[in-house]
Amino acid sequence: MSPYAHGTGWGTAVPEQVLTNADLEKLVDTDDEWIVSRTGIHERRIASSEQTTASLATEAALQALQVAGLKPTDVDLIIVATSSPEHTFPATACLVQDRIGAIRAGAFDLSAACSGFIFGLHLAAQSIRTGAIRNAVVIGSETLSRLVNWQDRGTCILFGDGAGAFVLQAAEEPGGVLQGVIRSDGSGGDLLSLPAGGSRYPISHKVIEAGLHYIQMNGREVFRFASRVMTQATEEVIRKAGLHLNDIQWVIPHQANLRIIEAAARGLKLPMERCIVNLERYGNTSTASIPLATVEAINDGRVKAGDKIVFVGFGAGLTWGAVYVEWTGPFATRRPFVRPAYIRFLAHVRSALLQVLRRLDAIIWGRVSHFDE
Ligand code: UT7
Repeated sequence: MSPYAHGTGWGTAVPEQVLTNADLEKLVDTDDEWIVSRTGIHERRIASSEQTTASLATEAALQALQVAGLKPTDVDLIIVATSSPEHTFPATACLVQDRIGAIRAGAFDLSAACSGFIFGLHLAAQSIRTGAIRNAVVIGSETLSRLVNWQDRGTCILFGDGAGAFVLQAAEEPGGVLQGVIRSDGSGGDLLSLPAGGSRYPISHKVIEAGLHYIQMNGREVFRFASRVMTQATEEVIRKAGLHLNDIQWVIPHQANLRIIEAAARGLKLPMERCIVNLERYGNTSTASIPLATVEAINDGRVKAGDKIVFVGFGAGLTWGAVYVEWTGPFATRRPFVRPAYIRFLAHVRSALLQVLRRLDAIIWGRVSHFDE
């Protein structure tokens, strides 16, 4: 029998620095009333100069492993869904793999913008369900504050920084991530993009003068697309699971804009009380928004083991999707977890030793080839 992919651990990391709407009034021509009425956002978090997408992801991943009672060496797969990776390459996921010492894991970044966490959950769950792997960490992590134009009032009011992670584990008992729908429509790629920094527009003075290194967005079009696909994807995944909306306890949507969530709920005829929303305090944290909302709802007791949940999101690409999950929580067999600080220390020592060994190796082989000549 093929195993099921259960959600057994969760973690988050958010920067301490809060940027309120009142703070934004000092930066651009906007006001609290406009931002709240058009988006529902009151404040967002901004990463400090020491915090990066990988550092937030590492913190969230270690917390998630701690909740699941897994060691980093148990992990087979790390997916970091992000729109603000540390570099074009290497993958942010590889930095996380190194920092937690997940020496048996394959690690890669997933670029599906704000839908990335949904895509990552679906892919990791499928890998577990085929029997190819047993334990996966799926992370959504962002420092979008580094990519927005702080003079563009159409975008800078929306985004915030943060990270969230889930651990998925194989088990024979039914449950966990049971269905998924992932979709894309590249014809709408120009509606939300960050054009520069890739091979199409390598960074140059000209590219920077044109502002192509900042997020560009047609807000109104993205809004229309989002309101439509959030409803469609939710309906489709529930149908694939053979259920009805009334069977679902919670819909946990991508936290982009309260009006988009309300429009989707109206389309579904779903009372807002069954949607988890926390965007008023974090803004749109892209791939991190679904795990940030979920973990908050687990911690305050709303989401419980056995709950039937739909996660649904949309983003640049265009991309959208939904997954249906029967929430599990940590397995009874979970082992006590070693302290995150200790794991970080050991992983750091291991990484430094490997770098020294690699240098020694190069020197030795360098000498041999020199000798051969
Ligand atoms: O994860 C996916 C990320 N993206 C999204 O989710 C974006 C989806 N779109 C939205 O959330 C909304 O379209 C926005 C919040 C971005 C904008 O709300 P809107 O109701 O669609 O406003 P709008 O773009 O139609 O602009 C209405 C007016 C414009 O003025 P005029 O042309 O009517 O005179 C804008 O210039 O509001 C103006 N405006 C602002 N005014 C005050 C735009 N941004 C601001 C602002 N403060 N920050």
